[in-house]
Amino acid sequence: MMRNYHIQNLQDYFKEYKKSIKNPKKFWDKIADENFVWYQRWSKVVDYNMEEANIKWFKNAKLNITKNSLDRHLSVRGDKTAIIWEPNDPKEEAQHISFNELYERVNKTANVLREMGVEKGDRVCIYLPMIPELAVTMLACAKLGAVHSVIFAGFSAAAVASRVNDCGAKMVITSDGSYRGNKVLDLKSIVDEALEKCETVEHVLVVKRTNNDVKMKEGRDYWMSEYYDKASTDFVTVIMDAEDPLFILYTSGSTGKPKGMLHTCAGYMVYTAYTFKNVFNYKENDIYWCTADIGWITGHSYILYGPLLNGATTVIFEGVPTYPDAGRFWEVIEKHKVTQFYTAPTAIRSLAKESVEWVQKHNLESLKVIGSVGEPINDEAWHWYNDNVGNKKCPIVDTWWQTETGGILISPIPFVTPTKPTYATLPLPGVQPVLMDDKRNEISGNQVTGNLCIRFPWPGIARTIWGDHQRYKETYFSAFPGKYFTGDGALRDEVGYYRITGRVDDVIIVSGHNLGTAPIEDSINEHPAVAESAIVGYPHDVKGNALYGFVILKESGEERNRENLAKEINQLISEQIGPIAKLDKIQFVSGLPKTRSGKIMRRILRKIAEGDFTNFGDTSTLLNPEVVDEIKNERI
Ligand code: WT7
Repeated sequence: MMRNYHIQNLQDYFKEYKKSIKNPKKFWDKIADENFVWYQRWSKVVDYNMEEANIKWFKNAKLNITKNSLDRHLSVRGDKTAIIWEPNDPKEEAQHISFNELYERVNKTANVLREMGVEKGDRVCIYLPMIPELAVTMLACAKLGAVHSVIFAGFSAAAVASRVNDCGAKMVITSDGSYRGNKVLDLKSIVDEALEKCETVEHVLVVKRTNNDVKMKEGRDYWMSEYYDKASTDFVTVIMDAEDPLFILYTSGSTGKPKGMLHTCAGYMVYTAYTFKNVFNYKENDIYWCTADIGWITGHSYILYGPLLNGATTVIFEGVPTYPDAGRFWEVIEKHKVTQFYTAPTAIRSLAKESVEWVQKHNLESLKVIGSVGEPINDEAWHWYNDNVGNKKCPIVDTWWQTETGGILISPIPFVTPTKPTYATLPLPGVQPVLMDDKRNEISGNQVTGNLCIRFPWPGIARTIWGDHQRYKETYFSAFPGKYFTGDGALRDEVGYYRITGRVDDVIIVSGHNLGTAPIEDSINEHPAVAESAIVGYPHDVKGNALYGFVILKESGEERNRENLAKEINQLISEQIGPIAKLDKIQFVSGLPKTRSGKIMRRILRKIAEGDFTNFGDTSTLLNPEVVDEIKNERI
């Protein structure tokens, strides 16, 4: 649907880029004007104050993102497939859902939500597996003006409860269960456990998927199908203001509880549509597949909204890369003739460990562009992906972005930007990256490294942390006043290409999942035998990083069997956060290296975890240097 905005060649890119920097208002005004339907135009393209972290795009415009994702396609591509749903079990039939059908399903679901008392502005938490209802309920919320907050269906009851409570959700939508490879997970009982600690939820809607025997709480829980089957297919779209909330999505911070990043209607729509079209070289008959879970921002922006806004066919895959075998991804590409494939380095690395015959067995000729997201892609994985999946003819788009950015900020544009292994390359039009040194000076020139900041807002940036604007301002706009600080370090090479070197804060990316050290340490410390703990990441050849925990026991815990303790600690983490946050290694120590001001010197722990005992840097401020030798000698 985006009409005029395929960047054609490098010259064209530089021209567009310059225009977007010189006059961002004009640049985005034109894109917004020519590519979307609006109930009312904006009075101002952008209004921003980077010191106060107040950002507004398309001020006073009226719209609904579902009009643009669904309704406007019906007359031109109503029978075209919007969603191809590929189930966990390849023997179960895939579903092809047309735009007409999706529109109807969304209307019916919006009617069900309304019947259950959900109104504009209410928060709805969605805890569902990768089934069509996940996409449908999100769109139904958007159509009705309710704010969806999707919770990844691998999170624990405690994690669900904290998110539900933080956003004050009125409703939770879940299913009787979830299929993941050869496992069946009981989502409903996790919700039941979570809701024991939640006061705001009035109703739980349950979608049938696995036919697990679930308990339904009278007056609170309802089967979706009972209401859905009777619901009308007509629903009058709710008119939204540009800056009305569209969704909340939680992401880990280096400290404290997860941050509810709030994205709003107009800017997010314009930005995801524009970036989808250009980064994936999207054309009308393409079949696009992103393997992420919709529970992460990648799924929100580039499984659901970005593709549907462009009238694209998007694949939703319920399963895992290794079920029933390590050829599943390649089988699905062949089966549905996928043209764009977007996945994470951790998936690439794990599949690269398997015999390359799994790939070669399948015909991947349909592929045109392949992408990577979530963490730096290492050289080896890049080449394996390029050689075996892209067959050296599909450009790799190494897309750098964040939950907070709403959409991709730095990425090659396929067939335009020459790629370079491990480099995200150049900023997209409208994006102004800068590198800053620790003294808050901008580092100019090339062949330099620094803290990656963005100096001007783009339409997709999150507007606040739900309920805590002060924290938003402090986290992103205070380290380098006047600029958005990403938390990442980056290098700029001799031609101005960016390579993301990784987090510079206490966030660790494990298998592409963003994990804060503090919440994990908090849950370890709840173990009655534990006095204190510190978590660091260390390189892992499949996960990118794995977690290494250093744990000090209380006197009462000293007598306990260490192996059992380690198991209990991981069990605790699983319950409180989710299995993704489990530690690969746990070392029991008598103390942690601390500065005189009491701050743990994680730098040293990181070195030890990596097995590098050579260069601990300046340790003069260390209060207890003797503990470093002990930790070193007993490293696992
Ligand atoms: C962090 C954001 C963006 C969707 C998935 C993750 C890291 C992301 C890349 C990349 C190097 C990357 C950064 C970023 N990251 N993409 N292409 N190269 N690093 O979203 O969970 O909010 O995590 O992921 O460190 O800050 P997220």
